[in-house]
Amino acid sequence: MSKGPFYITTAISYVNGVPHLGHAYEAILTDVMARFKRLDGYDVLFLTGTDEHGEKVAKTAEKNGMSPKAFADQNAAHFQAMTKTLNISNDDFIRTTQERHYAASQALWTKLQEKGDIFPSKYEGWYSVREEAYFTEDEVKEGANGQKFGPNGTEVLWVEEPSYFFRLSAYSDKLLELYEKHPEFIQPQSRRNEIISFVKRGLKDLSVSRHKSRLEWGIPVPGDPEHVMYVWLDALTNYITVAGYPEENGEKFQKFWPADRHVIGKDISRFHCIYWPAFLISAGLDLPQAVFAHGFINVQGEKMSKSVGNVLSPDGLVETYGLDQIRYFLMREIPHGQDGNFSHEQAIARINADLANGLGNLAQRTLSMIHKNCDAAIPAPGSYEEADKALLSQIYEKLIPGLRPQADAFQFHNVLANIWKEISDCDSYIDTMVPWKLKKEDPARMQTVLYVLVEAIRCIAIATQPVMPQSSGKILDQLGVPPGERLFAHIDAAHALKSGSKIDAPQGVFPRIVELEPQKEAAG
Ligand code: MSP
Repeated sequence: MSKGPFYITTAISYVNGVPHLGHAYEAILTDVMARFKRLDGYDVLFLTGTDEHGEKVAKTAEKNGMSPKAFADQNAAHFQAMTKTLNISNDDFIRTTQERHYAASQALWTKLQEKGDIFPSKYEGWYSVREEAYFTEDEVKEGANGQKFGPNGTEVLWVEEPSYFFRLSAYSDKLLELYEKHPEFIQPQSRRNEIISFVKRGLKDLSVSRHKSRLEWGIPVPGDPEHVMYVWLDALTNYITVAGYPEENGEKFQKFWPADRHVIGKDISRFHCIYWPAFLISAGLDLPQAVFAHGFINVQGEKMSKSVGNVLSPDGLVETYGLDQIRYFLMREIPHGQDGNFSHEQAIARINADLANGLGNLAQRTLSMIHKNCDAAIPAPGSYEEADKALLSQIYEKLIPGLRPQADAFQFHNVLANIWKEISDCDSYIDTMVPWKLKKEDPARMQTVLYVLVEAIRCIAIATQPVMPQSSGKILDQLGVPPGERLFAHIDAAHALKSGSKIDAPQGVFPRIVELEPQKEAAG
């Protein structure tokens, strides 16, 4: 029985470049939540995709001597490939150049216009192409050479063009009321405070179209071919396109809208926490339950940038560390909602300590002992002692209930720390019980101890699936756990391993990463 629908999205990435570690982090973070919810019995819709219109994409395409569409096709393919490389379990991949998205965006525009919230005027002000964002005079600073910069350090240019506006100024109070009534709408708390103080300063109406004379690469404004929609209005609409908008009464929309979580980076919280709910209120649509803004990842302590030469690609990361290893590292090491750092040394230390020596070693040595000493079959337990009962009941009764609130808040570093506490409890249990000694002294007791351990490993491997789907699957395969018995609901005594079922000689799942010695100069 399903616990109900759960709709989760990533931001959709600009196709002006290829995916890097930042995109990979967001995709993995969202994937972990989607998988956690599926394993917990929810009917999940997980969306990711690409944001293909706007001046930034158009300009980069031109620099590359390509049409915007051909350029977008080329780079969107890289983002699609990234979902495969990282084993992302998205149910849909939207491209904003798709027909369905034109229909949804134009329908939303028409709705806002009918509501009286869109009106023609003229935009005169600063625009950052890098951020595809408008800035006010007081937000702009002058650099040494007379160039102007917005508050986030990107260059802004003066723009004057006829433009349609959205009556955002009318929504300040409604938005403040939303943040007040639903404190969970903006997560984490630090982002919520920023947004509230920004809205309290008063909102200006928002320019929502670009004139043909300056930009043609966009979705045409309904009824006015001189204009294309502002890329953020187009992009945000993607979340309802996929739910089937404008079919508001359609089955999919009824089931999945409003979204449960939008997962985004902190740089785009203004768009998601101010513009998006204002558009939705205007269109009479329900609001998403929460926007979670994660932090930024730096590499070796520095902001990723082409000029520094520290931009890490998802392909390279998987090749160097292994897929589940990199998924694990990012989820374990980047603190909830804060900026994080990626360092090669930290990655190797974590992977070796927690995976090779931790979970990998626990599974490998338990299964090897069983393979060698129990006729290569899951042993039959005798009656349980207190320590056996304590270990298993802790896992059966407390593990998943303890993880749920942490997962709900995207605290996957805590989810993993808690699972690893169980792993270290298993290690202590082995040290206390010394099963290899029991082999001669009390073989029946050895069987019980190994059974308790392998049953604990079964439950732990079920719980690690959201973060490490492949490796956890390999452990569960080695234990002979049927594919249909790998949900969180199966972490109980009723689904315990069947004694007597055969196991193959175990294969290590997490190899130790050995740092190669720097090449020594040949002695001459
Ligand atoms: N196209 C917009 C989003 C539109 S959503 C309706 C956009 N695209 S982006 O390609 O620039 O960024 C995509 C996502 O990746 C954003 O959530 C952004 O915050 C995130 N990241 C980009 N660089 C990042 C890091 N270095 N670290 C973590 N996340 C980062 O913004």
